[in-house]
Parts: sequence; structure tokens; C-alpha cells
Amino acid sequence: ISSESQQDIDNVAALVSKLPTRHGWLLQSFVLYKNYWITPLILQSIMRIQTSFKPRHDDIILASNPKCGTTWMKALAFTITNRSRYELGTSNHPLLSRHPQELIPFVEVRHDTNGDLINYLDTLPSPRLLATHMPLSMFPESISGSRIVYVCREPKDAFVSLWNFANKTTGKEHNIDLESGLDMFIQGFSPYGPFWEHCLEYWRQSISSPDRILFLKYEDMMSEPVKHVIMLAMFLGVPFSAKEEEDGVPEDVVRLCSFEKLSNLHANQSGEAFRTHNMGFDKSAFFRKGVVGDWVNHMSEEMGRKIDCIMEEKLRGSGLVL
Ligand code: A3P
Repeated sequence: ISSESQQDIDNVAALVSKLPTRHGWLLQSFVLYKNYWITPLILQSIMRIQTSFKPRHDDIILASNPKCGTTWMKALAFTITNRSRYELGTSNHPLLSRHPQELIPFVEVRHDTNGDLINYLDTLPSPRLLATHMPLSMFPESISGSRIVYVCREPKDAFVSLWNFANKTTGKEHNIDLESGLDMFIQGFSPYGPFWEHCLEYWRQSISSPDRILFLKYEDMMSEPVKHVIMLAMFLGVPFSAKEEEDGVPEDVVRLCSFEKLSNLHANQSGEAFRTHNMGFDKSAFFRKGVVGDWVNHMSEEMGRKIDCIMEEKLRGSGLVL
């Protein structure tokens, strides 16, 4: 009964035909819906979620702009919340054999293999860990009670990561050059962009509802991972006991979820993490370098300044510095 009707699909198609459209990323068309660039297929899912998603009081949502540390956050949140079921150090820990993207689904990304999106989300056991790239303003009212962890990233690094990822996914013949990618990015045209609006919405909400939204930065997590893992466990309602801290469990979580460890696992090196609407996303594409400041190896100072300028302008007065 809850599956998508032809009427729903027609309604979205009618809406899409009236929206501004652009091409440039991932061989997809993007439409500007409520001030964000998303694909018509994501829009279709979002409409569906708005009406049919059944939230649970213990849902946890991991939110981010693409390429800001989603995979890492998925690994950390999974490991922390499941540590009594899957002890760290055991050889059958799911992270050793499955990609973090497979362990936590995106709310709005329908996988080709999962059938109907809402029915699939309904089958997941509680407490559900869900991920999203949706801007906060597109969440259905019904999710407004869930706890959210948002991870953001320094925008020059995020852009370089996006550009590499997009080119890797579409293949050489469709590669976009760095200049064109940069132009699109600073115009606010990136998947789920404008990048800054996405960050700002979550930032503002994290200030007014700190118990509900934990706002984290990739760079801070990189420089003090243990501290952040402890903070994350607390926020997720599963704090480490004194004994666990004494035994170095937070450090073990950091090690298991590190770029080094995950990117070297056979399970994360070949095949697709998921496939959505006939576009496959390689497991290895989610692990590139995993360092802070890699933008300097791709962009000139001048290009970097373009991103700095737009960010400064857009974030001014918000208290958020990226
Ligand atoms: P780079 O392209 O800069 O290397 P997302 O998961 O949101 O798609 O983000 C991908 C970025 O996070 C990539 O950045 C990727 O290498 C990095 N990443 C993936 N796993 C990581 C981990 N365990 N620790 C730190 N960074 C990680």
C-alpha cells in the first residue's frame, strides 16, 4: 500500500519540468528545489519520505554534505553503537567484511537492489542508524525529533574530494576539468549544494538544539579522534564506561575506523558499495587520501582564494568558520 504510485511519479515529473535544471556533475541532471541542487530521482524520494517515512523515537541520523566524511562517520557510529553486539578486536566484526556504506543506508537514496525505499527502511531493526545528504529544511516534520550528527569539512578539501569522486565515478571520457568544477561549486551548484547553505542550516539548528544536533568538523575529528569518539558515544546515548576508557576501547574504535585500516581491507577495495538508478559507486572511490589540506596538491592559491571568498561572504555573522 505504501509503495510509490504512478500518480506520485507523475506529480514529481510535473514539478521537475518547472524547476531550473543544470548538468555538470555525475552525468545527471540536477534541479533547483527549495534552493538546493538535487537530482529528480532524489526529489522523488524526498517527496515520498515527506509523506510516508515512519520515524522511530530512537532513530539516529548521520547527516553531511557529500565528501565531508560520511563514510568515516558511518563506520564510527556503527562501531560505537554496536560494540556490545560486535566486540572490537573480533575477527567477525562487520566492518572487516562490509563497506561502511553498506552498513548504514541513506534515507533518500534508493538502491537498485532494495526495492521500495520506504518498505526497505521499515524492515531495518531498531535502533536504526540512517544517513542522509538532505538539507535540514527538506526533512519531513516527522523526523524532527531524531538525534542528528552532522559532519562538515573544510570546503576546499571537500571540493577537491568531490571533483575526484565525480571523475572517478563517471570515467575518463566524461571527466570535468578542475576550473569548470570550481566554477560550478562557487556558484552553489554541487550535489545537494550550495555547500554553505547546507552547513549553515545544520549549524544554526545545532546552536538552538544542541541536544538534538551534534555538529562536527572533519578536521577536528582528524586532529583529536579519541576525544571525538568519546563525545560521539555520549551523544548517541551509549557513553563509554570508566572501565572501557581504561581498557582503551575508544582508541580501538579510532583504529578500526581509521582510513588506513578501512582502505586496506579487501572488502573495501573492489566492487560497488551501491548502485542507484543504474549508476554504480565503487567501494574504493570512498577512500581516496583521507588527509587534511590536500587541496594544495590540486588547486592554485588563486583558485583556493575563490572558495575562501565565497565562504567568507556566505558564512559571515553566523559564527561558523570552515
Ligand atoms: P578525500 O577525497 O579527501 O580523500 P564521504 O565519505 O563523505 O564520501 O567523504 C569521502 C572523503 O572522506 C574522502 O576524502 C575519503 O578519502 C575520506 N575518508 C574515507 N574514509 C575515511 C576515514 N576512515 N577516515 C578519514 N577520512 C576518510
